[in-house]
Amino acid sequence: MTFPINLQFEALSGITQMGIYSPIFYSFLFLHVVSFIIAFGSVIFIDTCGLLWILKKVKMSFVNSVADIGTKLIWTGLSGLVISGTVLILFKGYIDQLTAIKLFFVALVALNGINLHFIKKSSAHITDTDEMPALIRFRITVASTISQISWWGAVTIGFVHRHIQHNIPYPTNPWLWMVGILITISTIAILGEVILRKSPAPNASYTKI
Ligand code: HEM
Repeated sequence: MTFPINLQFEALSGITQMGIYSPIFYSFLFLHVVSFIIAFGSVIFIDTCGLLWILKKVKMSFVNSVADIGTKLIWTGLSGLVISGTVLILFKGYIDQLTAIKLFFVALVALNGINLHFIKKSSAHITDTDEMPALIRFRITVASTISQISWWGAVTIGFVHRHIQHNIPYPTNPWLWMVGILITISTIAILGEVILRKSPAPNASYTKI
């Protein structure tokens, strides 16, 4: 059974007929991989600095400085991934179910990036000597987890498509997975917000968003 999401691009058959083995396809695949290295390399580096801060090995101000530079690299890499990925999809000529889930992860990465921007803004006044409020700590943990799951999900699906099978019409209903993931994330986020907003903040040097 073909799920309606398995979109075919009949109107673009000119590009599609050039195929996934043409030099142009490989050039964009190269751009895709380079963009991935720039973006995900920065994500790993920032998250590692965050982990070192949790272990009290570095100061928050250091993590913030690293994140300021790293965020620009992440958005640059992500833009490259979306631009090159769109051309790759046009060459393939269809979006199968697993690619739909990959695009969902890409959307999550982008939305989560905006979310992280606001979290960072709301904690801008916290100095190295202040205690980080539990609510901000919770938001950072949730956002970092979403980031890691989405990046690893997208890269795994990209790898499987490239090296195992180009057209993967599974799972039968990708919308169910997407809604399931969204419900899980929302439930955890809402529960955390409700519980932690009730507990008093250790100091007043942050703004609730
Ligand atoms: C978080 C963002 C993304 C990541 C981490 C990612 C990762 C990857 C990886 C690792 C590959 C395999 C490269 C190789 O081994 O040569 C790949 C291939 C591919 N990606 Fe992405 N990608 C991302 C975003 C996108 C987007 C936004 C699109 C489409 C709009 C896209 C479309 C494709 C296509 C069509 C292929 C080739 C699949 C095939 O050969 O059947 N990717 N991606």
